[in-house]
Amino acid sequence: MVFKIQEQVDLSPYNSFGVSQKAAYLADIQDAADLREAREFAGSKRLPILILGQGSNTLFIKDFPGLILHMNTRGREILPGAGMLRAAAGENWHELVKFCLQNSLYGIENLALIPGTVGAAPIQNIGAYGVELEQFFVELEAFELKTGELRHMSKADCEFAYRDSIFKQDPGQKLVVLSVTLQLCAEPTPQLGYAGLQEALQGEEATPQRVFDAVCAIRKSKLPDPELIGNAGSFFKNPVVSRTKLLKLRESYPDLPAWDTDDPDLVKLPAAWLLDKKGWKGKTRGGAAVHEDHALVLVNTAGATGEDILLLAQDMSSSILQSFGIALQTEVRIA
Ligand code: EPU
Repeated sequence: MVFKIQEQVDLSPYNSFGVSQKAAYLADIQDAADLREAREFAGSKRLPILILGQGSNTLFIKDFPGLILHMNTRGREILPGAGMLRAAAGENWHELVKFCLQNSLYGIENLALIPGTVGAAPIQNIGAYGVELEQFFVELEAFELKTGELRHMSKADCEFAYRDSIFKQDPGQKLVVLSVTLQLCAEPTPQLGYAGLQEALQGEEATPQRVFDAVCAIRKSKLPDPELIGNAGSFFKNPVVSRTKLLKLRESYPDLPAWDTDDPDLVKLPAAWLLDKKGWKGKTRGGAAVHEDHALVLVNTAGATGEDILLLAQDMSSSILQSFGIALQTEVRIA
C-alpha cells in the first residue's frame, strides 16, 4: 500500500472513549520507511507529533493540530531461544496473549483482555492481577523522531515503574516503539496473588488456560467493554502514600485497603475505593459518567465531549484531595 497522510481526520474511531475531535493530519504507519516519510512531512510543516496505537488510553480534549502516527506495524515471531518472542507495535495485545497461550509460552495470561496494542504496553508498563509487563520484557526497537535513527532499548533503558516508563517523559516521548521482545516461560508459572483470582478458579488446577479464562471473566464482570461503551479503563493511577499517612487515614476509615510497595515506608491505596467512598459511582456530567460498577472508570454514555470527561475527572480528583488530602494522578493521557 502506498504511504498516505490523511487530512482533517475525525478521531472518534481512533480512541476508545469514542470522542469526536479532529487531527490536522494522520498517517497509518506500517513500517520504519513510513515513519521516515512521516517524520519528514512533519518536519517540513513544523507539526507536533502524537503517537497512537488503538487509542485505548488517550482522552482527546481538543482538536490535534499536528500529525498523528497511527501505529499499524504487524508481525509476531517466536525467536530461537526458549520462550523468546518478538511482536510488532501495531499488533493487538490481547491477540498476542492468546497467541502465546496457543504456542505454550506462559506468563502473561494475567494480562489478558487489556485493550490496546503491543507498542503501547511498555509505555504504560501495563499491569493487572499481580503481573506487570516489565517482568517479561527483554528489549524493544524504537525509532527516534529527533534523529530518524533506529535504537534498541533494554529494560534498564526503559525505566519502568508503576504504569510509567521513559516513554511518558521527555525525551522519551520522541521515541516510537516499533517492536517489543519478551521472554516468556516454557513451563506454566501461575501467578495467583491477586485477591479474587484464586476464588475465580474455584479450586480447579491453575493451568494457564484457566488463569486466562478467570482473568477474562473477572475483567468482564467489573470493567465495561470499550467496544460497547466508550472508556479507557482506570482513569487515575492508584496513589502511593507514606505509612504514616495511611495510619492517619485509618483513624477515620478503618477499613481502607492498602498494598505494600517495594519501599517499606510507602503503601499503595486503591483510588477506586476512595472514589467509591465519596459516592462517585454512577455520577454524570454531560454525556460522561462514572461507571456504575467501578468508580475508577469513566465512560462515555451519550456523546460526551473530551471536555465533559475531563471536567468530571477534575471534580473527582478535587473531592479526593479535599477529603483525603491525596492528589490523584491520571493514568490516561490527556491530548
Ligand atoms: N473498589 C471499590 N469500589 C469500586 C471498585 C473497586 O471499593 O468501585 C475496591 C475493590 O474492592 C478493591 C480495590 O478497590 O479493594 C481495587 O479494585 P480493583 O481490584 O478493581 O483494582 P484497581 O486498583 O481499581 C488496578 C489496575 C487495573 C487492573 C486491576 C487488576 C490501576 C490504576 N488499575 O485497578 O488496570 O486491571 O488493578 O489488577 O493500577 C488499567 O490500568 O486501565 C486497569 C484497568
